[in-house]
This record gives sequence, structure tokens and C-alpha cells, in this order.
Amino acid sequence: MAQKIRIAVTPGDGIGPEVVAEAVHCLEALRSRHNLPMEWTRFPWPSHAWHEENGESMPADALDQLKQYDAILLGALGDPGPVDDPDRYLLPDSISLAPLLDMRKGFDQWVCERPARLLPGARQYLADERAKDIDMLVIRENSEGEYVGQGGRLRKGSPDEVATQMEVFTRRATDRIIRYGFEQARLRAAARAEEGKTRHFHTRDGKTCESQVCIVTKRNALRYWGDMYTEAFEELAKQYPDVATHHELVDAACMKFVQAPWAFDVVVASNLQGDILTDLAAVLSGGMGVAPSCNLNPDDPSMPSMFEPTHGSAPDIAGQGLADPTAMLFTTARMLEWLGRKNPAIAAAGRELYDAVAADLAENAGTTRGTQEIGKAVRDRLK
Ligand code: IPM
Ligand code: MN
Repeated sequence: MAQKIRIAVTPGDGIGPEVVAEAVHCLEALRSRHNLPMEWTRFPWPSHAWHEENGESMPADALDQLKQYDAILLGALGDPGPVDDPDRYLLPDSISLAPLLDMRKGFDQWVCERPARLLPGARQYLADERAKDIDMLVIRENSEGEYVGQGGRLRKGSPDEVATQMEVFTRRATDRIIRYGFEQARLRAAARAEEGKTRHFHTRDGKTCESQVCIVTKRNALRYWGDMYTEAFEELAKQYPDVATHHELVDAACMKFVQAPWAFDVVVASNLQGDILTDLAAVLSGGMGVAPSCNLNPDDPSMPSMFEPTHGSAPDIAGQGLADPTAMLFTTARMLEWLGRKNPAIAAAGRELYDAVAADLAENAGTTRGTQEIGKAVRDRLK
């Protein structure tokens, strides 16, 4: 009997519970059809509602509880909405979103993977027809950088106030995220080859490779970590002669994401720069409604990874059944593939869910459907 996979389901705030409900229905369908050894527990925290009742977003031992699970499936955190209710219970972002950062840090989820592929049926924001070829994977360093939360405020409230916000970059975390990028580039090239497809990327010395890693920095202004990233990248690249290498400054990367996003394959960026680039990348792939994300700890199996779409709690539409669950369902598919490292049947269920969501998207281009309608349509496609 295969080991049972356990998932902690944390719907969170706003549209989180609405889209998570569809994800759980799909998990139920897949579990019963394929008799998968998997179970889940729903947690009412972290959330505004829990804070309102208990004075904290989650219990003090929340991470200890979550550590017992193989993965965390998170809806969204933030303003619960509805925005036209001025009396709703509302926390400052720094409080309501803290659990997200606590989980990433506490479980050392050092990779944030955000694929941006313009799938058939998704909204194409760029007029250029080559936008159909957008297929990149943005890998965001998720453990340090601009997000270490170190610093403080001195002489608070006075005209002489000083705020400091530290950025910390270690060689260890730099090496591991860049190496991860190269490995993903290789895997993507192999997956394309299996489908009989190839992409070509040119290197400066005239070689042509089937995959590419683009490293993003702001080394012309933030030179210390920028130079360290550059050196680490150049050194590691020697071990991946089959992968083309490229560098962009983050401002130029924003420009090129709009001008020629189809030229990117794998992009590795720092925590904050990756955060910003992935909102842009989400729009290139059809918008927040379709953009999946995950926070992974690839090297410690005792730590749960966390799966949450790129989107937030969408307080403007929360509670109305209007949220598109597509991003959440793609994210759930990715979770199953990840968990499938321990069980091939679960990985297959992840691919089945991915295919069902993609097929639903392709067949319903331009239609307006509610959360439950989309969820049911996807479920009906599962074998
Ligand atoms: C994201 C979000 C978070 C981040 C916020 C909510 C702290 O924007 O997951 O991209 O900046 O990481
Ligand atoms: Mn973000």
C-alpha cells in the first residue's frame, strides 16, 4: 500500500475559499476515480476571519502543524472584501500577508516557480501574433534578497525619521537558485524534444542551444549582489554548455517581456525583481486568472512545499462567484505533479488535471463563466 499523501488546504481570504473549493472538488474526483492514496485537511487559518476571532492570523504553532503535511494548497491572503463594505474587518497588508512569508521562510521554500505560457483560449494582451509562442518559466529566488525583513525605523514619526530595509544575498542561495534554473532549462528542452518540438537560442560565441537561462539583476546600480550573481552564473554555466546564457538588467527585462517575450525560456530573478516580473509575465500568459505559482523546497522532503496562484484575494469580486479558478486549478495540477515524485499515479493525476484545465480554456475562449461553472466543466473532463 503506497504511503498516504497528506495535503493541508488553507483557503485564506477573499476569493481564496471560492477557488479552493473548485480545486478540492477536482481532488475528490481524481482521488475516487483513480483510488489515489491522498487525503487533506482544511484549515480556517491563516485568514482575516481567524484574526478577527483570535487576534492573530494563525495559531502560534501553525508551522509545526503544517509541517506534518506533504504540501500546502493555499487560496489567497489579503483584503477579504467586499470593497464596498467600509466596515469589513481589514488588517494592514504587512500583517495579513505575513503568514505567506513565514511559510516560505519557515519551510525554506527557496524556489518560486511561475510559468508563463500563452495557452490557446487565454486572453492575448499583446497584438503581435508571435505572442502565441510565449512560453517561459520565471524562477524567483524565494528565501532571501530583498525579502529578509531586516531593518527598522528610527525616530519613528519625527521629521528626522530613518527607515532602513536590508537586502541580503548569500553565495549559497545564489548558487542553488541558478543551478535550479539550469536544471529546469535542460528539463524543458528534453520535454520539448519528447513532443517533437525544438526552440533555438543563440549564444554570444555563435553557438545555438535548445534552451536558455536568462539571469536578471540590476548590476549597473546594485553592484554587490549583481556582481556576485554574475560570477556565480558564469561559473555554473560551464557545467551546462548545452544551455544558452543571457543577462538582462531588470528594467530592460520589463521592456523585453513586452517587446519580445517569446525570446525567453528560463528566467532567474531575485525575490523582489522576480515578484515584479511575474505580475507582468502573468499578464503575458493571459492574466492573473490563469497564472499558477508554487513555492518549493526541492531538497528537504520533510518540509512541505506551498502551492498558491500568483493572484491575490481580489476583494473587488470576492463572494460573488466570479473568480476564475483556472489559476488555482493549474496550481493544483502542479502540486499533484510535485507530490507525484513519491507516487507516479498522483503525478499522472496532475497531468490529467492540467490537460483538463487547458482543454477547458481552449474551448471557452472569450466566454464569461462563474467560478463553479468553470470548476464543473473541468471536473466533467476528468476521465
Ligand atoms: C506574491 C505576492 C507576495 C510577494 C506578497 C503578498 C507579499 O505579491 O506572492 O507574489 O510579494 O511575494
Ligand atoms: Mn507578487
